[in-house]
Amino acid sequence: MRIMIVNDYEEMSKKAAHIIASQIVLKPNSILGFATGSTPINTYKELINLYKNGVIDFSEVTSFNLDEYFELSKDNPQSYDYFMKANLFNHINIDDDRINIPNGMTDNIERECAEYEKKMKEAGGIDLQLLGIGRNGHIGFNEPADHFQSDTHLVQLDDDTIEANSRFFDSVDEVPTKAISMGIGSIMRAKKILLFASGTGKAEAIYDTVKGPITPRVPASILQLHPDVVIIADKEAASRL
Ligand code: GLP
Repeated sequence: MRIMIVNDYEEMSKKAAHIIASQIVLKPNSILGFATGSTPINTYKELINLYKNGVIDFSEVTSFNLDEYFELSKDNPQSYDYFMKANLFNHINIDDDRINIPNGMTDNIERECAEYEKKMKEAGGIDLQLLGIGRNGHIGFNEPADHFQSDTHLVQLDDDTIEANSRFFDSVDEVPTKAISMGIGSIMRAKKILLFASGTGKAEAIYDTVKGPITPRVPASILQLHPDVVIIADKEAASRL
């Protein structure tokens, strides 16, 4: 694991965008794994700037998103599909056919998960996976559990996650209780992983990820076993290291 400690959210976002941009420059047909949440918002803004300034071109890029809420339609502003379009895809030249996000409205969950895994494999695997981290150490929507769940699957969200994500909804009752998420195996198969975190709310999760035992109780701790992980944490998120 390589840990980069930066001053604040702005610096974290610039660094993350520059790492993603260099991946695209080095391999224009990269397979990128994208994340949602508050953490990536300015990274995506910076990527849009780099695209508009002619530094990067997304025309050959393929994307796979980590997760999607279950039973939330794409046109719901809280869906991750909507989030990705609003915060990145609508502003760059990525080909719609190369965008992959789990379909939360599927009527066959097992088939949806199996096909998502198959598509990732057929694309050649993810070159660079971007990851935020939950306050409880979750990655994607892999919640603390008794064992690591390998492939894309349906998740029952933790109360802590529902509470944390309720800030985006009118009330906590509107937050979906389930989601489709890449599994730990799906994430670990990425060739490179970039995890980023900002703010004191993430300090404990970052400490446990980097210095704690590898345990499914802290899903991100498995990243200690991945050969190519960069963590960018701002001073607050790194304050317990
Ligand atoms: C969400 C997402 C994760 C994200 C995490 C942190 O529940 N499923 O992919 O990394 O929570 O979100 P935020 O960046 O808003 O703190």
